[in-house]
Amino acid sequence: MKEMINELLVSLSGRNESNAIVFVHGFPFDHKMWQAQVVEISKDYFCVTYDIRGLGESTVDDGQFTMESFVDDLEKIIDELKLNRPVLCGLSMGGYISLRAIERIQEKFSALILCDTKSSADDNEGKLKRAAAIKLINSGGFESFIDAFVLNCFGEKFVKEKRNEYDAVVNRSMMNNSIGVKGCLLAMVSRTDTTNILNKIKLPTLIICGSEDKLSPPDVMKSMAEQIPNSEFVLVKNTGHMTPIESPQVVNQAIKNFLTKNRI
Ligand code: MLT
Repeated sequence: MKEMINELLVSLSGRNESNAIVFVHGFPFDHKMWQAQVVEISKDYFCVTYDIRGLGESTVDDGQFTMESFVDDLEKIIDELKLNRPVLCGLSMGGYISLRAIERIQEKFSALILCDTKSSADDNEGKLKRAAAIKLINSGGFESFIDAFVLNCFGEKFVKEKRNEYDAVVNRSMMNNSIGVKGCLLAMVSRTDTTNILNKIKLPTLIICGSEDKLSPPDVMKSMAEQIPNSEFVLVKNTGHMTPIESPQVVNQAIKNFLTKNRI
């Protein structure tokens, strides 16, 4: 079932009396990146996915977003749906939103799953890359930006062996509004560093990382896991940054094991 909350497209699957999981997607994707998880995990949990403001079928507004406004949106969805301490699961930009949400409102969640993300803010090189991306988009290079960015997100094996699935993701990403995409780039470049809250996370936490992830590599994510007291680290072999799409069975099993172990 789909509904609009605060001008955001929200998709609901599973029985709403079950424990809830809110999935927050990465950039420049949309809620459909969690499709394989929702199909499997909604058998036992109430799965909530949504399109982040500026992407997919959610409003683009004026394209002026911040990480804070993204957390406001997440909180609004949880409140509107009256979710009782859902599990929060975010990938990459969705992980930045999740980490900042935990810093602001940890008490609203029961557990945390971080896929292919990092707690550090953009360094100078990262900031200049965002600026170059905006310049490229402004000079008519939206499609080449999406092409190159999405290619860098996936592992070689997936692109070679699952070409149709890969092309479908690229095509969906191309359908985004360029103002929304630039708004997300500016929200990411202006995000805070959440590293100093890692040791204050009290929730059971699962960290999932693709072995070939170039954007949030295994050593970075392993170090995050070491700083979070009640955490476990799962490395997904032969997989890039997009673990839920590239290796759905491994990711689903890791999530199910984690939830069962923590009696959620
Ligand atoms: C994502 O997958 O959300 C992006 O790679 C995040 C980023 O560009 O920092």
